[in-house]
Amino acid sequence: MRSLEGMSILVTGGGSGIGLGAARYCVERGARVTICGRRKDKIEAAATALGDSCRGVAADITVAADRETLLEAAKNHGGQLDALVNNAGNMYRGAITELEEVALQEVFHTNVIAAMMLTGLCTPYLEQQKGAVVFIGSIHTRRAFPGASPYAATKAAVQGLTRVLAAELGEKKIRVNCLLPGAVFTEINQRAGLMDDETALQRLEGMSDLHALGRIGTTEEIAEAMAYLICAEWVTGAMIDIDGGLGLGLTQDPAVSAMKETCDHD
Ligand SMILES: NC(=O)c1ccc[n+]([C@@H]2O[C@H](COP(=O)([O-])OP(=O)(O)OC[C@H]3O[C@@H](n4cnc5c(N)ncnc54)[C@H](OP(=O)(O)O)[C@@H]3O)[C@@H](O)[C@H]2O)c1
Repeated sequence: MRSLEGMSILVTGGGSGIGLGAARYCVERGARVTICGRRKDKIEAAATALGDSCRGVAADITVAADRETLLEAAKNHGGQLDALVNNAGNMYRGAITELEEVALQEVFHTNVIAAMMLTGLCTPYLEQQKGAVVFIGSIHTRRAFPGASPYAATKAAVQGLTRVLAAELGEKKIRVNCLLPGAVFTEINQRAGLMDDETALQRLEGMSDLHALGRIGTTEEIAEAMAYLICAEWVTGAMIDIDGGLGLGLTQDPAVSAMKETCDHD
């Protein structure tokens, strides 16, 4: 198992949520981390808060020139490139009868295509370090949420390409894995204009009973699994569900609850 200490790690979308949690976790363990996002103020504030080991770059991963800039920044900041975390992602929801083609193309561009293009760009440098790529899938491919077909489709794509790239890049000794997070309170739904912070938190906490472990997760818990995938030297092509058991599909079957109550009283 490798150590994060001294690694150079590029985390896309590191200005908030899961990416910011991952950047903080890696910086605290001695890595040099480069993060990016489209909002300059946000990304600079995040990098400043994490200190000298973190560099923030205002970059849009759907723009080819920005991807080049980002990779150069990560190599300059970290001295090499040990890991790429393809975390930047957007939400798009809607009934299948209402979907807009441009919005669909945009969400696929960020969540899938830009991540693939950046991975290709980083591959020669990751090969030098026998490095790792981590993609972020979602619980949305395990549980079906009506109205979330655009987002779920992008995450199914990411999970599918993870296995192909693991096979393809294995000969270069690059490991490629995917995390499938469950419900974590971040900015993703609010940025999509779907709800405000308070409603988003209430909605997620309202899902607590659907988790085997009875609660939603934290960005640090996702970062722990991400760090494992960066460091584990014999793991590739893996999908790790990190969701407190949300993907198990717990049901509130009245007959089962009644049986359980009877057993508890026996
Ligand atoms: N939160 C959850 O419950 C959950 C569950 C499963 C999977 N995920 C996945 O986890 C990842 C992180 O999401 P999050 O929940 O942490 O949401 P978040 O707080 O909204 O973070 C996503 C970040 O991506 C950046 N981003 C979006 N488009 C970008 C682009 N074109 N170029 C560069 N940066 C871009 C955003 O910054 P800018 O807007 O400034 O660019 C934002 O900081 C996503 O892939 C998401 O699908 C989240």
